[in-house]
Amino acid sequence: MTKAHFGLIGLGVMGENLVLNAERNGFSSVVYNRTYSKTEDFLKSRGADKSISGAIDLKDFVEKLERPRRILMMVKAGKATDAVIQQISPFLEEGDLLIDGGNSLFSDTERRVSELESKSFGYIGMGVSGGAKGALQGPSMMPGGTKSSYKAIEPLLNKMAAQVEDGPCVTYIGPGGSGHFVKTVHNGIEYGIEQILAESYDLMKRVCGMNCDEISEVFGFWNKTEELSSYLVEITEMCLKVKDPEDGSDLVEKIMDKAGQKGTGLWTVVSALQLGASVPTIYASLNGRVMSSMKSQRQRAESLFGSPKTYSFNLGSKSDGMAPIMDAVVLSTIASYAQGMEILRLASEEYKYELHMPSIAQIWKGGCIIRSTLLKRIQEAFILDPQLPNLLLDPWFSKQVKERLNGLTKVVSASAEAGIPVPCFSSTLDYINSYKTSRLPQNLVQAMRDCFGSHTYERIDKVGSFHTDWDV
Ligand code: 6PG
Repeated sequence: MTKAHFGLIGLGVMGENLVLNAERNGFSSVVYNRTYSKTEDFLKSRGADKSISGAIDLKDFVEKLERPRRILMMVKAGKATDAVIQQISPFLEEGDLLIDGGNSLFSDTERRVSELESKSFGYIGMGVSGGAKGALQGPSMMPGGTKSSYKAIEPLLNKMAAQVEDGPCVTYIGPGGSGHFVKTVHNGIEYGIEQILAESYDLMKRVCGMNCDEISEVFGFWNKTEELSSYLVEITEMCLKVKDPEDGSDLVEKIMDKAGQKGTGLWTVVSALQLGASVPTIYASLNGRVMSSMKSQRQRAESLFGSPKTYSFNLGSKSDGMAPIMDAVVLSTIASYAQGMEILRLASEEYKYELHMPSIAQIWKGGCIIRSTLLKRIQEAFILDPQLPNLLLDPWFSKQVKERLNGLTKVVSASAEAGIPVPCFSSTLDYINSYKTSRLPQNLVQAMRDCFGSHTYERIDKVGSFHTDWDV
């Protein structure tokens, strides 16, 4: 019997779709799932009449694959991934390659790469973005590990990935856990943009008195602009139009206002703090989810403090795309990308990942959840200046800041007066205002630190380290 090119472990929706994608692109496949009945069901339904076979156990699975074996694991991140590696390892042979396509913590991937490679197996930690549809039609993929391991799957990944005008949305990211690190940061940016769009919806609803259909129209308008055309704006426009089949009312208004999270946003913020990256917009989006989950406390507090009074501010009209709100959305979205890229720049230095920023922007242009036209500008910014410390300093992005800062300021102050929380917008405003202030008040912080703890300070007029006896 001819052996299969490619093996997949884990027939969740992502796994199913990825194996169908590989098969469609000419790679015969074998699949394994912990519960064999799931494999049988898949082979009888979506996997029927294709070059896909099933394996009853891991020994059978490994035997059905050509060597060196290329095995993609799509299992739950954490313990389940370690368990699969442990169970399959006895059947693997030198040169075989395991690929983890889940949302794994990058430090787990670092450990697995070194453990597996010490046994002469290859190991790739690969971020996969695009949800179920992307997995089937073409995701964005972020593989990290040793380059030789990547080379063994490059032709397969190039075909499976989404395609944009300058190539497939996959590239070798770097060594160790760099692929999962980049995917984690992708998700941090994703959290930011989702919260930003939710804040704009809230303002249009509560300050401008618009209904979901009207708000949806504004998202449709934004999606046609260079600054905001993106997958997340597109699906927001769509979600806001959907009605509850039971009574025809707007379905989003029936959804409980508690946002879940699986960990990647938190890991992004923790990594940023460890690396000394300033990520207030991304952090605000994470905190927005935490705050949202405190539903009963919020209800109690609202009955104690009262709900915000109804205010009406002029925040634009549908015909101008709610101009000031659009300014706030554009600048906060830019801030999310800028902060994400800043984490990557610092991680590249700290962890010796040697990340190539234009390529990362390139592979995010298609397939993934944060795909947008802005990524072309981001790619160009890093081509123009590979050492760019922050996107806000690039000529195109700085022009956006100059033109839109008034609008963002107006939106944040109107929201504050109306008592409506806009954590991403207000964090972005402080981020930009801090970033463009050459003298901040931290001179006084330094004085306090030196006063109580003799921590010393630098001076602006003399070189050296100084201490003063402040207790006059
Ligand atoms: C993607 C998504 C995907 C998933 C996240 C959502 O790029 O395809 O990021 O990986 O939707 O896990 O994360 P939360 O559940 O934490 O929002």
